[in-house]
Amino acid sequence: MERLDKLYIGTNTKMYKTIKDTEEFVSKLYELTADINREEMELFVIPSFTTLNNARKTVSKEQLMLGAQNMCWEEQGQYTGEISPIMLQEIGIDLVMIGHSERRHIFCERDLEENKKVISAIEHGFTALLCVGETEEQKENGISDEILRVQLKCGLKNVTKAMAEKLWIAYEPVWAIGVNGKPASAEYANEKQAVIKRCLMELFGEESGSEIPVLYGGSVNNQNAPELIEKENIDGLFIGRSAWNAENFSNIIHMVMPLFKERKIKYK
Ligand code: PGA
Repeated sequence: MERLDKLYIGTNTKMYKTIKDTEEFVSKLYELTADINREEMELFVIPSFTTLNNARKTVSKEQLMLGAQNMCWEEQGQYTGEISPIMLQEIGIDLVMIGHSERRHIFCERDLEENKKVISAIEHGFTALLCVGETEEQKENGISDEILRVQLKCGLKNVTKAMAEKLWIAYEPVWAIGVNGKPASAEYANEKQAVIKRCLMELFGEESGSEIPVLYGGSVNNQNAPELIEKENIDGLFIGRSAWNAENFSNIIHMVMPLFKERKIKYK
């Protein structure tokens, strides 16, 4: 099966769920989606660090991919407050999210740090999910494409073709994320995802570049999920608020899965 034949869908639970909340959430989500063949879907949850150990004991890798919201690039050292790849390996997680908009804008992370994290995550056997996206001001100044290309070219510096097999990208326009976010239209998201895909092909060659999953995130909900997933360049959905209730998340998944399959046939 080709990499892009499956639907990529997941949630970052930000700083909301406790250990108990996360255990309940992942077990419920697994139960509610157990009818969907995992060969056809890459389902992932990215909860807070403190919940990962218990979450991993609650669901297996085969049932659900688990990710960390951040990671230090070094294995150990004088990095107070950081979590290393070795520590995450100990827990047995699958994925590391890097450069979420809140990390970049509240905690001042730069492409330089995101780049070190992407390389370290992949070298330690994790899938790296690099998030990119322009701010409202950048969009208004007409430089969204340039910003996305800079974030990709700097964030993926020295990432090789072989490493790109463990890379996913999430396009999350900053103005579309969170309680004050305005969702991007499906057309706008599709257009920017095309810019990202072109840049990935420049970086890794047509074949490898075009196989990297590019997900859309930012105010995805039950209303807009179907039109987003029907777009050619949207390989999956990365959802915040609308996915934090397992029933609602499962409803979205069950709604988009058949549409995704139809779309795959249409664009084959
Ligand atoms: P949202 O969050 O769906 O609540 O807008 C998206 C994100 O921050 O990844």
